[in-house]
Amino acid sequence: MTKITAAITAVHGYVPEDIMSNHDLEKLVDTSDEWIRTRTGIEQRHILKGEGKGTSDMAAEAIKGLCKKRGIDPKEIDLVICATVTPDFTFPATANVVTDKIGASNAWGFDLIAACSGFIYALSVGSQFIETGKYKKVVVVGADKMSSIIDYSDRTTCIIFGDGAGAVLLEANSDGYGIVDTIMCSDGSGREFLHQKAGGSVRPASHETVDNKEHYVYQDGKTVFKYAVTKMADVSVEIMERNGLSSEDVTWLVPHQANKRIIDATANRMGLTDDKVMVNIQRYGNTTAGTIPLCLHDWESQLHKGDNLVLSAFGGGFTWGAVYLKWAYDPAKG
Ligand code: UT7
Repeated sequence: MTKITAAITAVHGYVPEDIMSNHDLEKLVDTSDEWIRTRTGIEQRHILKGEGKGTSDMAAEAIKGLCKKRGIDPKEIDLVICATVTPDFTFPATANVVTDKIGASNAWGFDLIAACSGFIYALSVGSQFIETGKYKKVVVVGADKMSSIIDYSDRTTCIIFGDGAGAVLLEANSDGYGIVDTIMCSDGSGREFLHQKAGGSVRPASHETVDNKEHYVYQDGKTVFKYAVTKMADVSVEIMERNGLSSEDVTWLVPHQANKRIIDATANRMGLTDDKVMVNIQRYGNTTAGTIPLCLHDWESQLHKGDNLVLSAFGGGFTWGAVYLKWAYDPAKG
């Protein structure tokens, strides 16, 4: 019997118009463009502004663009999985809001929380529904309005994050293209190093939690960096080894964009030269679940059928993992 794989058949990304540059941040906190660029690689990030605008608005834009490119009606979508740590509401799920906003009236959906690994976790989950033959069209979207949980007086976090979304469409492939292998990992004992202290059931919102700024991202950057460098590289090398891929075989590394130094360390361990690594952190910063699909969006025109891509990420949880996929289509002509 022919093996069915889940292949990405369309990709689209969205970032809001408003830009916050390193120089803008120099006016808010004690930092410098030079420090941010050399320590992280970031030059600017996009920020979603406007009353009532949330993560779902960016996710909806990404999915609408994707449907247009693939020439499908949103009503054809069976399932929307939204990876995010900045849902519109605690409930209902952002995926429910998104399906309504795009008119995907035949789809069901749910949110998936895995912080910066959210997109690859969701890709791994979404692919199962295609591989089993249960569904024909599954959308995986990574979207985060990080500016909604960032303290713009904390220089250790506000320089890193930005807002954005990216979405892919998964469809069945019987020619060996699409997702070949995934490795997903987590270690909840790392939760204290990167989290949002309040707003959940353990510590519901109160005057005190607001006064203590407990609804913002808390990160012990040094510790997270240490784990990220090791785990992202380990899992990327592991997925290469177990699929018999040499560094020559890998066409592209599509890394989570948290810090250029983490990306470089991962590429280095994989034996890849810079020209095989997607890096757009300078323009968007860390958009959490949005980084990897935004890379695919930006590089789509350079991707060819049969290219070997390794996607890898590390994030809060701790969560980390890697996906090996064979790109399934050539860039659109004209
Ligand atoms: O995406 C999910 C996972 N997240 C990550 O992977 C992020 C991992 N962590 C990082 O990327 C880095 O740790 C940061 C970018 C957050 C920080 O860079 P670092 O090289 O680890 O800096 P550091 O925390 O060791 O701080 C070095 C110095 C400190 O000053 P002292 O103690 O040496 O005087 C900080 O206070 O830099 C200072 N510093 C800053 N200076 C200027 C920290 N933030 C800033 C800043 N501007 N924005």
